[in-house]
Amino acid sequence: MRAIQIVNLNGPESALELVERSEPGASHMLTPGRGVIVDVHAAGVSFPEVLQSRGMYQLKPELPFVPGSEVAGVVRSAPDGADVAPGDRVAAFCVLGGFAEVTVAPEHLCFRVGGELDDAQAAGLVLNYHTAYFALKVRGRLAEGETVLVHGAAGGVGTATLQVAKGLGARTIAVVSSDDKERVAQEAGADHVVRSDGPWKDQARELSEGGVDIVLDPVGGDRFTDSLRSLGEGGRVVVVGFTGGSIPEVKVNRLLLGNTEVVGAAWGAAALARAELSQEIGEAISGLIEGGFVRPIVGARFPLEQAAQALELIDGRGATGKVVLDVGR
Ligand SMILES: NC(=O)c1ccc[n+]([C@@H]2O[C@H](COP(=O)([O-])OP(=O)(O)OC[C@H]3O[C@@H](n4cnc5c(N)ncnc54)[C@H](OP(=O)(O)O)[C@@H]3O)[C@@H](O)[C@H]2O)c1
Repeated sequence: MRAIQIVNLNGPESALELVERSEPGASHMLTPGRGVIVDVHAAGVSFPEVLQSRGMYQLKPELPFVPGSEVAGVVRSAPDGADVAPGDRVAAFCVLGGFAEVTVAPEHLCFRVGGELDDAQAAGLVLNYHTAYFALKVRGRLAEGETVLVHGAAGGVGTATLQVAKGLGARTIAVVSSDDKERVAQEAGADHVVRSDGPWKDQARELSEGGVDIVLDPVGGDRFTDSLRSLGEGGRVVVVGFTGGSIPEVKVNRLLLGNTEVVGAAWGAAALARAELSQEIGEAISGLIEGGFVRPIVGARFPLEQAAQALELIDGRGATGKVVLDVGR
């Protein structure tokens, strides 16, 4: 099969190579449990692959390895009694190995998808939408009618969070850095869009009449203190990532004064360890797809052999929505 390998840690421009290699079997999973073999039609590309190409991600496989954490495709084989069967169209989270014509994913992270989503949209479903639901509902305890401020709102996690929050009955305020990204956040259904280089904290406090209930933060960096200041009484900042580059520190007196919280949300580790959690989130996301709330926004598509360009787009802060590789021949 054709696959993209990371062969060195010199970054997106030179770390990736297109190769022919043998197909993985069900026993080739990185994680414990039973594997489902998937014929890949499209692969989702995300920020972690950029970090992996520099050896800067927490998961550091031995070189060379096939990156790619999620795919859309058709089940070729599944263990007896699994929720999916050969021939099913699925969105699957495979951790690694997705930038290839065939991959293997844990059975509890394979989700049947219907005709509402095309292959590219399905390739952007699991990582971002499960993370959004986990961060908002499981970790952030989002309640209907609350207001959610979303940083990096035109990105993969950001657009997913806007849609899931809306589906859960929240009002949303998107924070973005450009006109183009403003349009994408609007397409994702944001109620309000504000600019990261403007007075977004004061705008958020005004729009939410006193402070937001949740800040969903995949960016980190300098804006963190203002995120805390934008919260209302009892508000929560949910920490999802650090695309801004630096890891903020919290002066905890700020939490005491407003009865606020900072909460971490690491979906991947929780999802791999807890099959019942993935099932619960999978059902909730299916409901949001049926309700018309969840429709992944695909910002750019590349053929498999141009995976490096896909990573460079994300690395240069130029990506909107989900970046996808078309894989099937
Ligand atoms: N915790 C979890 O379980 C989990 C799960 C999935 C992803 N993540 C993490 O979430 C983060 C976002 O992932 P994503 O797929 O949404 O990424 P993405 O599509 O590239 O979006 C990230 C956004 O971050 C903003 N940003 C601000 N400063 C940036 C900088 N210096 N470089 C690049 N982007 C910058 C950009 O928005 P503006 O230009 O509008 O500011 C960009 O749209 C990553 O760190 C990823 O590892 C965490």
